Amino acid sequence: MPLVRRYLARMQAPLSPDEQARLRRLDAGAVWHPFTQMQTYLDDDPAPPLIVGAEGNWLIAMDGSRYLDANCGYWCLALGARPHAVEAAVAAQLQRFSHSTLLGLGHQPAAELAGKLTALAGEPLNHAFFADSGSEAVEAALKLAYQYHVHRGEPQRHRFLALGEAYHGDTLGAVSVGGVELFHATFKPLLFPVERVPAPYCYRCPWSRHPDTCALECAQTIEQIIAERAPELAALVIEPFILGPGGVIPQPKDYLRRAVVAARAHGVPVIFDEVAVGMGRLGRLFAFEELDLKPDLVCLAKGLTAGVLPLSAVLAGESFYRTFLGAFGERKTFFHGHTFTGSALGCAAALAALDILAAPDFLPHIRRETIPAFWRMLDGLRERPMVGEVRGMGLMAGLELVADRATRRAFPWERRTGHRVVVAARKRGVNLRTIGDLVLAVPPLTISASEIELLGRVLGESLEEAAAQ
Ligand SMILES: Cc1ncc(COP(=O)(O)O)c(C=O)c1O
Repeated sequence: MPLVRRYLARMQAPLSPDEQARLRRLDAGAVWHPFTQMQTYLDDDPAPPLIVGAEGNWLIAMDGSRYLDANCGYWCLALGARPHAVEAAVAAQLQRFSHSTLLGLGHQPAAELAGKLTALAGEPLNHAFFADSGSEAVEAALKLAYQYHVHRGEPQRHRFLALGEAYHGDTLGAVSVGGVELFHATFKPLLFPVERVPAPYCYRCPWSRHPDTCALECAQTIEQIIAERAPELAALVIEPFILGPGGVIPQPKDYLRRAVVAARAHGVPVIFDEVAVGMGRLGRLFAFEELDLKPDLVCLAKGLTAGVLPLSAVLAGESFYRTFLGAFGERKTFFHGHTFTGSALGCAAALAALDILAAPDFLPHIRRETIPAFWRMLDGLRERPMVGEVRGMGLMAGLELVADRATRRAFPWERRTGHRVVVAARKRGVNLRTIGDLVLAVPPLTISASEIELLGRVLGESLEEAAAQ
C-alpha cells in the first residue's frame, strides 16, 4: 500500500483504548469549550465525540465512529470537512510564505482575493477590509460606519439600529448590537446603548399577529424608528433574510426590502451581516443577491474559506471608502486591524473556495437540487412529536421544540429537550447542534441526496426517542 494510503488508513482506525482515555482526560481537564456548560459537558453520557479525522461530509471520532456533520463545523464547512482543492491551495501557499502583515504592505493572496470578492460582489462594493472572524468583521464594520459619519461632520450619529434576537458575534461591539438575552444579558454593563426593534419572529409575533393576515407591523415599526431616529443613527445592522444563532428566524417577505429602503431614504447606512447567510448558505454567493438593493457594508466569514481557515472580510462601497482618504495629517486613517488581518494562508484558502462556490454550475445546482430536497425532507418532520415549527431558508433550518404544539408552550429550559435530540442523533451517526430547544440543521452545501435522506430519518427517530423520555 502506498505510504499516504497507509497513513490515512491508520488515521481513520480507532485509537487504542489507552490513547482514547488519554485524550479524553486532556479534553476534560484542559479544554474550556465555548458556549458549553462544562459541568454538563463533563457529565454527558455517552461522552461527546472527540474528532480525530474527517472525510467528505463526515467527522471521524477517536473510537472510529463516523458522524454526518449536519452542523458543518458551526456553519462554515461549506464544502464538507475535507475540501481537497482548498487544502491543496493552503499547502501550496505554505510553500511560498505563510504570513506578511497588511499594515502598510501588500501581498499577493490578499490582492487577488480582494479583486475577486469585489468583482463578484459588483459595484459599488469595490473595497475589501480583512479580519479574522465574523465577530471581528462586524466590529470593523461598526467602527467604519461610525468613522464615516465623523469624517462627514456628523459625530453625533453613533447609535446603531439592531434587531432583537440578532447575533453578530462575541466581541463587545458585536455583543452590543446583538440581542439574544441568554447570550448577552450578563455583559450589559459593558455594552454601548443600541436602538433596538423587536425581531419579526412570526411564530411568536411580538405584535401578536398572524403571518397570513398581518399588516407587516414589524416592517412599519422599523420604518418608523428609522424615520424618527435617523439623525442619530450610525447604521442599521442586520442579518439579512434570517437571524441565525438567535433562533433561525426568517424575515417576512418584504421586511428586509422595506427596512433597507427606509434606511436609504433617511441616509442611514446599511450593514449586512452575511457571516452565516453568505457564501452560498441561502443558495446565492451573497445573500444580498436575493434583493435588488445592495448594502453599504457587507460582513463575510465562515464559508469564505470553506471553513478551512479563519478569515473574514468587510466589503465597502466607494462612497464609504472615499471619506477615509485625505492628507496624512488629517488623521482619516482607519486605525483598526489585527496582526493576522488578511492572513496569506486564509486568503489562499478563500480564493480556492471561491473558485468552487462561484463556479457557474455550483450554486445553480444547489438551488435546483439540494435545497428543494432538503426542504422536502424537513417538511416530513413538521408533524413529528414536539415540533412546533420548522423554519429557515436555503440550507439553514431550525426545528423549534415545544411542550404543547397548540399553545406553543416551551419546555422548561433545564429539561434540555434539544440536547436529548442531539444525543439520540449521535447514537445514529449524525452530529447536530441545538440552541436551547431549537434543533439546527445546517449541513455542508455538498450534502448528497442520500445524506439528506439519512439526516431526515435520524432527525425523525431522534425526535421520537427524545419525546418518549
Ligand atoms: C450572523 C453571525 N454574525 C457573526 C457571527 C460571529 O462569527 P465568528 O464566530 O466567526 O466570530 C456569527 C457566528 O455564528 C453569525 O452567525
